[in-house]
Amino acid sequence: MPQEESSPLVEMRHISKSFGPVKANDDVGLRAAGGEILALLGENGSGKSTLMNILAGIYLPDGGSVFVDGQKRNFRSPHHAIAAGIGMVHQHFKLIPAMSAWENISLGEGGGKPFLDSRLIKRRIADIEKRFGLAVDQDKKIYDMPVSEKQNVEIVKVLYRGVRVLILDEPTAVLTPQETAVLFSMLRRMKEVGRAVIIITHKLQEVMEISDRVTVLRKGRNAGTVVSSRTSPRELTELMVGEAISLEIRREEAERSAEPMLEVRGLSLRNAEGFKVLDSLAFHVSGGEILGVAGIAGSGQKELCEIIAGLRRADSGSVRFMGEEILGLSPRIIKERGIGMSFIPEDRLGMGLVGGMSIADNILLRSYDEGRGLLVDRSGGRQRAEGIVDRYGVDTPSVQHQVRKLSGGNIQKVLLGRELETRPRLLVIAYPVRGLDIGASMAVYRLLNGQKKQGAAILYIGEDLDVLRELCDRIMVLHAGVLMDTVDPRRTGKEEIGLLMLGHRPPVGPEAR
Ligand SMILES: Nc1ncnc2c1ncn2[C@@H]1O[C@H](COP(=O)(O)OP(=O)(O)OP(=O)(O)O)[C@@H](O)[C@H]1O
Ligand SMILES: [Mg+2]
Repeated sequence: MPQEESSPLVEMRHISKSFGPVKANDDVGLRAAGGEILALLGENGSGKSTLMNILAGIYLPDGGSVFVDGQKRNFRSPHHAIAAGIGMVHQHFKLIPAMSAWENISLGEGGGKPFLDSRLIKRRIADIEKRFGLAVDQDKKIYDMPVSEKQNVEIVKVLYRGVRVLILDEPTAVLTPQETAVLFSMLRRMKEVGRAVIIITHKLQEVMEISDRVTVLRKGRNAGTVVSSRTSPRELTELMVGEAISLEIRREEAERSAEPMLEVRGLSLRNAEGFKVLDSLAFHVSGGEILGVAGIAGSGQKELCEIIAGLRRADSGSVRFMGEEILGLSPRIIKERGIGMSFIPEDRLGMGLVGGMSIADNILLRSYDEGRGLLVDRSGGRQRAEGIVDRYGVDTPSVQHQVRKLSGGNIQKVLLGRELETRPRLLVIAYPVRGLDIGASMAVYRLLNGQKKQGAAILYIGEDLDVLRELCDRIMVLHAGVLMDTVDPRRTGKEEIGLLMLGHRPPVGPEAR
């Protein structure tokens, strides 16, 4: 067991940290050696981000110590942590949108020296990119970047400071499987050159794939540390939750509506550059059915959702909801007719929730935009909020708590709960379990099944093919805005769906199917 015996590069001992009444970390510890990838696992709100924020010098612990190379080093600021070789990429990014990648990366370097040589900086950045296999367009402005590229900028920024310990807080929550593979090969290179990586992720398959050891937190305390090659998703879940829970996703049988709830015909859209984003798309979803949408990112899923929601115009085609055309209607009217929308945004605080407001007021906010007027009774919001907190297991001291102070996953539960509470006839839902722990994810699948049983039609845009195959009644596969095929998940393997996603059609012939 070489990994367990080598002396740690960093170690945290007896760390405690409270936020008012909330004990986020309660006598917690962990260690990571050079050349090791440690996964940090735990339910939403179990204290992972808090612990890593302490290691990165963002929070001061109430008690306990941090050791680097065996020496006690308690950091009073991120600068101290960086100087000791520890850097973190956060769950919510901290880049300056109006600045370019290289400016962000070199920001704060040189203690405010005015004349930094930009050519030198850029060359150093290019070296790092090459060394670790990361691509960023150095001159591009942050606001022009997709989220995966922003994250790469954050990573390069940390590596640029020469850290030996890289902390990543849910880096894969915003990545496609392909992007995750690229990230993981970068992490393996870090490991090869003797650096330590601590990665937070809720995806157990990723933990099994990338980490050497796993430290599990439960309700702010250590629940155990195990060697990855000797554990299983089942054991990890049990450590995390404290009891065995079923990881099986059921496909519920439900009665289908006679008429389709949603019927899309000939839907086409070109983007500003003139490329076809949606190309004569046609499909339907019935009540009592979950239609999955599979596709690599940027295959038209987002635009499809936005068109149905009334947020974007189509060039041609029709979208009928319960027999009536809804293209051209306003988002508000579309919502009022009974279409629920839930896009889990890449930046959870960026969409639909106001961080500085309480949970209850954020729930009310949804009622305002439903047009119920501003003079709503606040106790109603409070009650609804309490219902949501209860049913979705939002971990919070009260519904008056500011959303900003919730853990990442709990923010998301509020967002999702607020949408499902309106009991839509058609639910368009994209990536609902991003950032949710395994128990909460299973709860979302149960909720979707519940809505389906009550006759709702569900269009489910997902990225995890295993989940799509277990949950959905049919899966339509998009590639570059074209519907490649609609498959029966009971009879179609992951590989076949994967090939369709890449634009390969299976050969047609008597023996092909
Ligand atoms: N700045 C803060 N102010 C008040 N409470 C906080 C703050 N940061 C975290 N907390 C609370 O501390 C607890 C632990 O939060 P933390 O963000 O560390 O959880 P997490 O394990 O990272 O969860 P997730 O998987 O959802 O990101 C939660 O109950 C959270 O509400
Ligand atoms: Mg977190």
